[in-house]
Amino acid sequence: MRRVMAALAAALMVSGCATVATPEPTRPPASPAASAPTASAPAASASASPSESGPVTAEPEQPAPEWDVSTASSLQVVVNKLRPMDPPDFAPELVPVSTAQEGGEVVRPELDAALAELDAAMRAEVGEGTFVTSSYRSFALQAQYYQNAIASFGQAAADTTSARPGHSEHQTGLAIDLMSTAKLCRLDHCFGETAAGRWIAEHAWEFGFVVRYPEGADAVTGYAWEPWHLRFVGAEVSTAMHERGTRTLEEHFGLEPAPAYAEDAS
Ligand code: DAL
Ligand code: ZN
Repeated sequence: MRRVMAALAAALMVSGCATVATPEPTRPPASPAASAPTASAPAASASASPSESGPVTAEPEQPAPEWDVSTASSLQVVVNKLRPMDPPDFAPELVPVSTAQEGGEVVRPELDAALAELDAAMRAEVGEGTFVTSSYRSFALQAQYYQNAIASFGQAAADTTSARPGHSEHQTGLAIDLMSTAKLCRLDHCFGETAAGRWIAEHAWEFGFVVRYPEGADAVTGYAWEPWHLRFVGAEVSTAMHERGTRTLEEHFGLEPAPAYAEDAS
């Protein structure tokens, strides 16, 4: 948060923007790109309430920010079982992950910059860095992962842990799977009980990330708990979610729950 606040304060001073009337954040976003609400899904609005004493001076109604949750390149795009990648072969601008990683991991540059800050803070506070095990996946690579999951668990179980190709937010370049440099509990729920897993659950929002598939939210996200899967949405959105207590992007953006695929989905 400290880093976000410092970066954001600087960004504010430079751009002079981010003070746009928004009821959401108490701090501006980590990157200018994350502060560019455009269209589509309105966030909830706040209304001015009178103080207990003194004259009532109604604050002007503030327009709620709107975020583009539909364009594949948007930092706030929402991809789930009912919201496939559009176009299906979308491929984002990608850079190598600059922190510790499996090898060959690539992500959107905005994610990498935020991850570097998260990594530094976790190293300072936990004594372990992040270790990215999966990142951007093309449609074709996701198809392999999905088929492997079916071969291992059967389709019904696979659909609770692996997205069908064209439905994975890994294809946006805005999602990563990680563990810590201690390399404990790879892709395992026990990661959530490690020092690094607990720290990430508590602090990822400060850097613009959300744990995309929280525990007990299967009926909304369509997937079982994945404490290792982080989604970058920008600090303005992650901060608003933290403050409001909204745990899923579907809930935060007012989108319908996506527990299952549409009948005609492949
Ligand atoms: N594990 C997540 C749901 C994916 O395959 O994208
Ligand atoms: Zn993942």
